[in-house]
Amino acid sequence: MSDVLELVDVSVVREGRALVDQVSWSVKEGERWVILGPNGAGKTTLLNVASSYLFPTKGTATILGETLGRPGTDVFELRPRIGMAGIAMADKLPKRQTVLETVLTAAYGMTATWQEEYEEVDEQRARAFLDRLGMNDLLDRKFGTLSEGERKRTLIARALMTDPELLLLDEPAAGLDLGGREDLVRRLGRLASDPLAPSMAMVTHHVEEIAPGFTHVLMIRQGKVVAAGPIDLELTSRNLSVCFGLPLVVERNEHHRWSAHGLPLR
Ligand SMILES: Nc1ncnc2c1ncn2[C@@H]1O[C@H](COP(=O)(O)OP(=O)(O)O)[C@@H](O)[C@H]1O
Ligand SMILES: [Mg+2]
Repeated sequence: MSDVLELVDVSVVREGRALVDQVSWSVKEGERWVILGPNGAGKTTLLNVASSYLFPTKGTATILGETLGRPGTDVFELRPRIGMAGIAMADKLPKRQTVLETVLTAAYGMTATWQEEYEEVDEQRARAFLDRLGMNDLLDRKFGTLSEGERKRTLIARALMTDPELLLLDEPAAGLDLGGREDLVRRLGRLASDPLAPSMAMVTHHVEEIAPGFTHVLMIRQGKVVAAGPIDLELTSRNLSVCFGLPLVVERNEHHRWSAHGLPLR
């Protein structure tokens, strides 16, 4: 299996502080990674490197075979091969565009509908992704009027539109109510279990948001890797406690869903 992502000793330093600190991490084709870590751990910064929008201060980042900063690596050719859905993206998209347009514009690598003529085949693809994410009844709604959950599902459909080889999701379930979260977890579970779906990395703070089908976990704390590897081996109470800095117990139930809680005071 070839490397989709290969980070070697990557640091991102800002104002003398390492936001990402000597991270080595490799994602192979077909793997589905969860990235866990407390607020400010550097998860979004790491995804910004993985999506080629941020270059490492030190170390090397190779994405889909292209090493950032090397002659011959053109990030503008690389970016359409990576699907990214995060909070920052939502703010850049025009609020008055419809849901269908919001997804369609991804095919043309722009955030506004400058080009009014879309290929029929693109529209069919956009409709299919939106259908898969349960957005069928909202195709003509303005993006700016969507609920949090609807917006997140639209962004994931949008990220899939370029047929990416790597899909990066930054806290896709943050801010959703219980029903919204469970609906999204089910959909992400289907995506994660689909052998034709791209390799994935999803950032979250909550193990409850990990869908069955995710295969690996990366835990980071203060920019450093705490644990990385197969989820069954590495998502342990011990690693999670180190990652979040307090004693935690993590469990997995018969439905392959995770939960975590602190220990009662004695
Ligand atoms: N451009 C920047 N300059 C300085 N500090 C930053 C910058 N971007 C993020 N940070 C800081 O880096 C740390 C990691 O941020 P981030 O990657 O967003 O964490 P996470 O996504 O894990 O919550 C935070 O303390 C944040 O305040
Ligand atoms: Mg973040």
